Amino acid sequence: MYKIVHLAAECFPIAKTGGLGDVVGALPKYLNKAGLSTCVLLPQYNQKWVQQNTKVNVWKGNLSSSHFNFNYYINQCVDAGLGFEVYLVDIPDLLFRENIYGYQDDHLRFLFFQQAALDWIKNWNDKPEVLHCHDHHTGLIPFMIKHCPAYSLLAHVRTVFTIHNGLYTGAFAWYNSRFFPEFSFQSKGSLDWDDTINPLACAIKCCDWLTTVSGGYLDELRFQPNPLQSLYNQHWQKSKGIVNGIDADVWNPKTDKNLTVKLAKSILKFKQKSKQEILKDTSLNPDLPLIVFIGRLVNEKGGELLPQAIGRYLSRVGNVNFYVLGSGSSDIENQLQRVRELFTQSVATYIGYNEALAHKLYAGADFLIMPSIIEPCGLNQLYAMRYATVPMVRSVGGLKDTVVDIGDTNGYGIRFTNANVEDILYSVNRAVDLYANPKLLEEIRKRLVALNFSWEKAVKEYIEIYQY
Ligand code: GLC
Repeated sequence: MYKIVHLAAECFPIAKTGGLGDVVGALPKYLNKAGLSTCVLLPQYNQKWVQQNTKVNVWKGNLSSSHFNFNYYINQCVDAGLGFEVYLVDIPDLLFRENIYGYQDDHLRFLFFQQAALDWIKNWNDKPEVLHCHDHHTGLIPFMIKHCPAYSLLAHVRTVFTIHNGLYTGAFAWYNSRFFPEFSFQSKGSLDWDDTINPLACAIKCCDWLTTVSGGYLDELRFQPNPLQSLYNQHWQKSKGIVNGIDADVWNPKTDKNLTVKLAKSILKFKQKSKQEILKDTSLNPDLPLIVFIGRLVNEKGGELLPQAIGRYLSRVGNVNFYVLGSGSSDIENQLQRVRELFTQSVATYIGYNEALAHKLYAGADFLIMPSIIEPCGLNQLYAMRYATVPMVRSVGGLKDTVVDIGDTNGYGIRFTNANVEDILYSVNRAVDLYANPKLLEEIRKRLVALNFSWEKAVKEYIEIYQY
């Protein structure tokens, strides 16, 4: 069977809401390419990919106690062509729903997902060497294999826990402990944080290796105030920051199926034609610099600042176009629509999720802005750079680790310090200056496409810790 098993709530292209899905959909492929044998376990949701692809049932099991009784099914995706095998955990009443998250019983959904996954794996003849868990939805696995007799067959298996977003802990009330497999009273402390069961805190305590998706983010978790700060410091010796890579097959401007214009010899032509293409159905002028935002419109990503910053910039100066693609808080969405109505010649929006449009925007934009308040790694700046789009990022987490300012030696991006409107406006001015200097812009674009953010480096680092 498999040596390394990844467990997560998302995996692109099967189920994705954000960067977690991208990483779980790519890292296993590159681990396999490096010679490891890796698979992914994911809940079976009632979503398009799952409906359209062939699945074969490979196992049927049951989870029961005096408090619950569920049948579960393990379905293998066949001919998925992803570069790794995927097994879907089907618990019809709990997991098979239209959305990945957002239900009142999410804590139970993921609790039973984890139990079903372990219940199946403990029956493998060859046990895996490592269970690699991602974010709090799979944070109870290290606890369960160490402290629940039901999974004692897996007690020797090493666990790696990766934090993609430490803001969400998945905490729930103690009365739900009746839905756990049996565990000893002495181990209760591992589950607890502030009188709740806290899957993120529990994972930090129980895993063998803790990783975050950049070193910068790990430092922030350790040295900046946050509810679990003391835990991060207590466990620093088993912690490591590993910057994500990007899937260079999916994100390749030379072959990208979503693009009408592909990158060939001239970067300038690629950028100009791609911009004309995306702006042709809008009233935006392709001769002006185009700044895009792609992502969730939430506070954490600096979404709240965007409508204000765009509005303020355009009411004073008008020489820039903005294109926003994303969805999130309805407040931010509404404010953006208002700004768009006020400045129809300069602002375009797409409220929603559109993977194909995202690819086109990375190709056609001159700049990508990420004013994130928190950014554990950030993938969008990496995609942008591969498509010769200059990143404008706040110096935080993974953004700080991956973008060098044009003011520094061989720099290729624009960085700013504070997540506020003033700093955004300042960086927009710098972008406009850069755009007005075509020679320098060309030089920066050359540097961008020469950068290498492929998975190979991260894969080496993961293999090192798997072997520990
Ligand atoms: C989360 C983080 C993002 C990171 C991604 C993949 O979405 O917010 O910064 O890039 O996970 O690790």
